[in-house]
Amino acid sequence: MTEIHAIDPEIAGMPRGGWDASWLDRRLQTDELEYLDRDDVSDEVKQKVVTMLDRMGELTHQHDTFARVALDLVSDIPDPRILELGAGHGKLSAKILELHPTATVTVSDVNPNSVANIAGGPLGSHPRARIQVVDATDIDSQDDTYDLVVFALAFHHLPPLIASRAIAEATRVGTRFLVVDLRRLSPVELALTPLQMVSVNLVFQPLSSLWPCVHDGFISALRAYSISALTTLGQAADPDMSVTVLPKPAGYGPPVNAVVFSRQP
Ligand SMILES: C[S@@+](CC[C@H](N)C(=O)[O-])C[C@H]1O[C@@H](n2cnc3c(N)ncnc32)[C@H](O)[C@@H]1O
Repeated sequence: MTEIHAIDPEIAGMPRGGWDASWLDRRLQTDELEYLDRDDVSDEVKQKVVTMLDRMGELTHQHDTFARVALDLVSDIPDPRILELGAGHGKLSAKILELHPTATVTVSDVNPNSVANIAGGPLGSHPRARIQVVDATDIDSQDDTYDLVVFALAFHHLPPLIASRAIAEATRVGTRFLVVDLRRLSPVELALTPLQMVSVNLVFQPLSSLWPCVHDGFISALRAYSISALTTLGQAADPDMSVTVLPKPAGYGPPVNAVVFSRQP
């Protein structure tokens, strides 16, 4: 049985850039929620953001890149069992199944409408896919059910205390927990982000999706965790947690970090 440690409540006050964040970095963060996380926002708006993420992942090949990063971590396991949290559109899981002939994937999200959309698509009838609603902070699975748990472009949705709990949960149900998430940008990069987002979205998205996508994109950038913060969150979940920063996934798309959390055997 995995031992669950009490998480120091002080972690709730950790800046997104970590305890060592600069004065300016501490000001460039927000508690404002993305539309994806708000109960008062219609699912129509949320699905515009999810569709944009899917399109962006296809165009930049990030679904493929992230799937390869995930599969590299289970290359020594013949029939890996993988849980994807916060799957949104499910394309990362679809790529994993396409690239690996025997992997099984549980594709999940906390949003039941996204889960229903995934279940209504090709993954719904895939013999190696299971689709279900899962909250990353309270995973309804036995210890060690999975060889790998993956959370892509979503970890920044969780505030520090909850994020630390999610690391504890994912490393309870899985041997390894791969977080691929937005890199925390420098102040200058952040200042340029809205302009970049508007131009990219104007080219690839219908005009009606522009505001939700730019809104959620900019808030995501302000909420992204630094490597120092991710390491602290892992150690708050378990002082012996191993935190490995992988080489930056190559390719196009928003810059990301890939970090693997695992407990000592
Ligand atoms: C920015 S989207 C990323 C979607 C997809 N993983 C991708 O890479 O494009 C964030 C996703 O995380 C989900 N999410 C937010 N909080 C969550 C939680 N506590 N547990 C599971 N999923 C969560 C949202 O519903 C949303 O689908």
